[in-house]
Amino acid sequence: MEFYFQIVLLAFLCFENGIFTTTSRSDQVLSIIPETEADVEIVKNLARENQTALWHPDSFHHIKPHTDVHMYFNISSVESVKALLSTNGIKHSVLVEDVQELIEVQTKNISTDPRSSTGSFYEQYHPLEEIYSWINRTTQWRPDLVQTILIGSTFEKHPLYVLKLSGKGTGPKKAMWMDCGIHAREWISPAFCIWFIQYHLQFYELNPSVANTLDNMDIYVLPVMNPDGYSFTWNEDRMWRKNRAKYDGTFCIGTDLNRNFDANWCTEGASANPCDSTHCGPFPESELETKAVAQFLRRNKHTIKLYISIHSYSQMLLFPYSYTMNKAENHEKLNYVAYLATTQMRRHHKTNFVYGPGAKTIYLAPGGSDDWAYDLGIPYSYTFELRDKGRYGFLLPPSMIKPACLEVLTAIQTITSYVIDNA
Ligand code: ARG
Ligand code: ZN
Repeated sequence: MEFYFQIVLLAFLCFENGIFTTTSRSDQVLSIIPETEADVEIVKNLARENQTALWHPDSFHHIKPHTDVHMYFNISSVESVKALLSTNGIKHSVLVEDVQELIEVQTKNISTDPRSSTGSFYEQYHPLEEIYSWINRTTQWRPDLVQTILIGSTFEKHPLYVLKLSGKGTGPKKAMWMDCGIHAREWISPAFCIWFIQYHLQFYELNPSVANTLDNMDIYVLPVMNPDGYSFTWNEDRMWRKNRAKYDGTFCIGTDLNRNFDANWCTEGASANPCDSTHCGPFPESELETKAVAQFLRRNKHTIKLYISIHSYSQMLLFPYSYTMNKAENHEKLNYVAYLATTQMRRHHKTNFVYGPGAKTIYLAPGGSDDWAYDLGIPYSYTFELRDKGRYGFLLPPSMIKPACLEVLTAIQTITSYVIDNA
């Protein structure tokens, strides 16, 4: 029944454009380059349709002439969209041919022992419940090095667990914070936090640089900052970005947690419209997830010297500010440490990461956690955008989890050792 409905719909869409084209077998991601302002308007309108999901840029407000747009289209609209773009002479190509296949590869579960030597648990993506049970097992496995702290819960009552990694050595220590999974669809991000924790626990006794880090700095890691959204991407809509909070007076759901912090909140680069993917929420820290993280950072601001937020995709290392074009007060140091980190990534992994202040490197985006943490007084504040640059985007295959994690591990080791010695 469903199948016949789609055939009829496709035939209708193809006919509507007066062109009969071969029909695609799957959802697709297209790369589109608008040239003129008129092209931009057409592409923006596509981004506003509900059969589509904008991959890059984050918001349709940032679509400009001559810059590449990555957009996801439902199977029901792929062919008519291509026809529309061709009719208007707008350059486009297929970025992801078979979305369905990539989603299957990403969600395939080879049930394995998380402590097996192959490490394959860490080279797979996991649904939320598996991540929670992994947190449990990990805390029980190494209670000498890791402790779980409940910092809050979400709209759907999922707990927000922070893992505190702490080595030997008493007395006052510096600390760092890292969060993953602010944006639901960026699956490589929670996978990285999990890798990072496992790596530190496994190599504490074996690798002197891991021991040096944990003995001199407490590390707080929030592996999934947006569990409601994350679980929604596994069960309902793979392309969801925001949290899942509901509001009075609108049917649209969710706030972009990285626009909800009290840092020039909801100015240019964020949206007051609850239906947009970069919605800033009803007021700063309106969301339980934002509030929980902000409270925790406020309480621990005297020890935390380094803030890191993990996103994807585009291979960048960003630092404040994103809410203004102005330079941060310690811009030179932030820039120097980012230079060191990206240089090490290139040297050891041959991977290129672009670095710079957020607003100048990508675009104005207020209300972000990095800017807020920086203004709170955390002197080193970074946002990583992990692999890749768009070939797979959010659908990064599990085979790329390992290289994606190893290169960023190198970068973070460079940053932490600088901060331990200099902050
Ligand atoms: N792509 C990320 C976002 O739009 C970049 C975050 C950079 N930092 C920021 N405060 N906007 O959320
Ligand atoms: Zn993100």
